[in-house]
Amino acid sequence: MAKLLVIAGSTRTGSLSKQLARAACGLAQAAGHAATFVDLREFEMPLYDGDLEAAHGLPEGAVRLRALILASEGVLVVTPEYNASLPAVLKNALDWTSRPHAAEPGVAAWKGKVGALLSSSPGALGGQRALVHLRQVLMNLGVLVVTEQFALGQADKAFAADGSLVDAKAAASVRAIVERLAHVAARLA
Ligand code: FNR
Repeated sequence: MAKLLVIAGSTRTGSLSKQLARAACGLAQAAGHAATFVDLREFEMPLYDGDLEAAHGLPEGAVRLRALILASEGVLVVTPEYNASLPAVLKNALDWTSRPHAAEPGVAAWKGKVGALLSSSPGALGGQRALVHLRQVLMNLGVLVVTEQFALGQADKAFAADGSLVDAKAAASVRAIVERLAHVAARLA
């Protein structure tokens, strides 16, 4: 069974991406997968600055996140769309966790992992333009990103009070991507 990490690309409390990430994590666990939800707010990192890195190495939040990525085989990234791309908070986390650390080269944490992508937005397109850039960045880090992806439109109306997805078709799409991620990650592990 593959170990999965589910990372949401937004820190705010009411984040739709966090809600989608938590729902996906719950669906993965319900299907018997070992899935861990990552709230980037709990992995605080300053904006990447080469002088900070030269003086102090990786920030503590990046070291912890890096360790979680290293311990996982599959990573599901759930992103909002900011100006047709991924948000700075997510890119910053990808940048810090792809730097050399403890005698390991940059991208060591990411290289060879299997990835899958979800996005969400209150808009009709569900943030799908962010997925194009996110896919490119992750593939550049050596992540094998599965072809299937899902963008949740009108995400502000998509969740029930218990955090589950209201629309059965949306839930089925998320479940299918989780299954694909778990399947490929287990095969490559
Ligand atoms: C947005 N939003 C947005 N939405 C979208 O569908 N396409 C876009 O290009 C953008 N651009 C954008 C830029 C910036 C700077 C902000 C703050 C917001 C709206 C965005 O989808 C909405 O605020 C989401 O609720 C943010 O995601 P979380 O925090 O709910 O996960």
